[in-house]
Amino acid sequence: MKKSLVVSLLLAGTLGAVATAHAVDSRTRFMAANCGYCHGTDGKSRGAIPSIAGLDKAYFVQQMKDFRSGARSGAASTVMHQHATGYTDEEFEKLGEWFSKIK
Ligand code: HEC
Repeated sequence: MKKSLVVSLLLAGTLGAVATAHAVDSRTRFMAANCGYCHGTDGKSRGAIPSIAGLDKAYFVQQMKDFRSGARSGAASTVMHQHATGYTDEEFEKLGEWFSKIK
């Protein structure tokens, strides 16, 4: 009796964690979809705009912060400044994680 209660509590905890992970995932996917228009679906560009798939996470996060702050600037970066402004550091981390895992 007691044992099955423990088991079901453990199970509930696990399912809860899975549901949370999934929610975070779809939010990240949604954010990443905003980048596909220029950087290609899944971050693989077919044009002049650089690919962002497979970039090192730390590099990615730093570029996004630099775009946002204006430290990385220039004509080509104006558009990225606009894009970076809407995101938090935590979201940069999530996006960096997302794109770094695409091979
Ligand atoms: C309207 C087009 C456009 C959209 C949408 C866009 N980007 Fe960009 N992105 C660019 C351009 C152009 C550059 C090159 C900027 C430069 O050279 O300074 C760039 C550069 C970058 C770089 C630097 C790549 C490198 O190799 O240094 C990263 C990282 C990046 N974008 C991430 C994103 C993310 C994440 C999103 C979605 C939240 C996004 N971009 C949406 C146009 C876009």
